Amino acid sequence: MSTPTTGAAGFIVFLLMLISVRLVVSISEGDILDVSETLKDLKIRDLSSSVSKLEDRIFALLLLRPAGGEKTGLERQTRQGLEERVQALEEFMQAVNQREGPRVCERGMGNNVTTQYPPYLILSDSTIEKDILCDTHTDGGGWIIIQRRTKGDVDFYRDWAAYREGFGSLTGDFWFGNDAIHNLTTQGAHEVRVDLRIDGQEVFAYSTRFLVRNEGNAYRMSLGSTSGTAGALGLWFSNDMKFSTFDRDNDPLPDFNCAKHHQGAGWFAKCHKNNINGIWGEKSSNGVSWSDGRSWKFPNFTEMKIRRVNSQI
Ligand SMILES: *[C@@H]1O[C@H](CO)[C@@H](O)[C@H](O)[C@H]1NC(C)=O
Ligand SMILES: *[C@@H]1O[C@H](CO)[C@@H](O)[C@H](O)[C@H]1NC(C)=O
Ligand SMILES: *[C@@H]1O[C@H](CO)[C@@H](O)[C@H](O)[C@H]1NC(C)=O
Repeated sequence: MSTPTTGAAGFIVFLLMLISVRLVVSISEGDILDVSETLKDLKIRDLSSSVSKLEDRIFALLLLRPAGGEKTGLERQTRQGLEERVQALEEFMQAVNQREGPRVCERGMGNNVTTQYPPYLILSDSTIEKDILCDTHTDGGGWIIIQRRTKGDVDFYRDWAAYREGFGSLTGDFWFGNDAIHNLTTQGAHEVRVDLRIDGQEVFAYSTRFLVRNEGNAYRMSLGSTSGTAGALGLWFSNDMKFSTFDRDNDPLPDFNCAKHHQGAGWFAKCHKNNINGIWGEKSSNGVSWSDGRSWKFPNFTEMKIRRVNSQI
């Protein structure tokens, strides 16, 4: 399977080959359509850098022309053909971006954050009719925060309906809401990251994929490959688990409700290696806790965040 980078690089090489071939023959509109058809198949999101590299390359090729500009009709035709092709690519890219729709937290937004709450930004999203807190800072930004514990001002021991709808405040501690998380993670592939501060040290867990099913499937959650400085087990242990609350026992243990027993809520297995929705300030596995497989840690800052995966081929 090719990665987005090698796919995009291969694609540029392909375009350059097309161009160099066309430099010696004339260019027809049909060629431009061919390129567009290829683009549709590739489904690359970040084409803009490919196009600007292409423009640079065309410019360089034109500079190789003898002084005095185009000497022949063929040269003029070639240049016009190349310019048309770039324009067609740009229009196609715009169409691709529009079809994907606006995205609330874009990577790179952090260079321009002026809100009261840096490096975060609150934006509203029409598709889920909810305000969203963006982490515009971590690993290039672009993250939608779905869970946050920073001061312990919000009770997280809540029922199924509360976790479905979400609670708390975006400027403090909150759970974003399982329906909204489901809706977001089914609009394209997402990655997930959990940032933790443990005894003043910042660590994280990360997974290449994060998908939450609908309520009918008890918000069952799937991960991709998992890594990070916090010990990936804390996250990985929840892979393929359903969501549980004290009033909705969906964990795989018969006759035992992990959410109730550990006074939290989440994607419990038998039972957990993280309880980031547990009791604030409590130093046990009922508290806000994380295990790397060797020992329990008690973070006093947690943020779980998701980001749409770019440039999929
Ligand atoms: C910063 O954001 C504002 C509002 O979104 C926008 O109008 C402005 O052009 C941005 N500035 C830069 C330097 O990106
Ligand atoms: C999720 O999507 C469904 C179906 O489009 C919609 O009815 C619902 O309002 C959405 N919920 C949220 C919280 O975004
Ligand atoms: C979290 O712990 C660190 C050090 O362990 C401390 O400096 C910080 O004030 C604590 N933050 C909160 C919100 O309790």
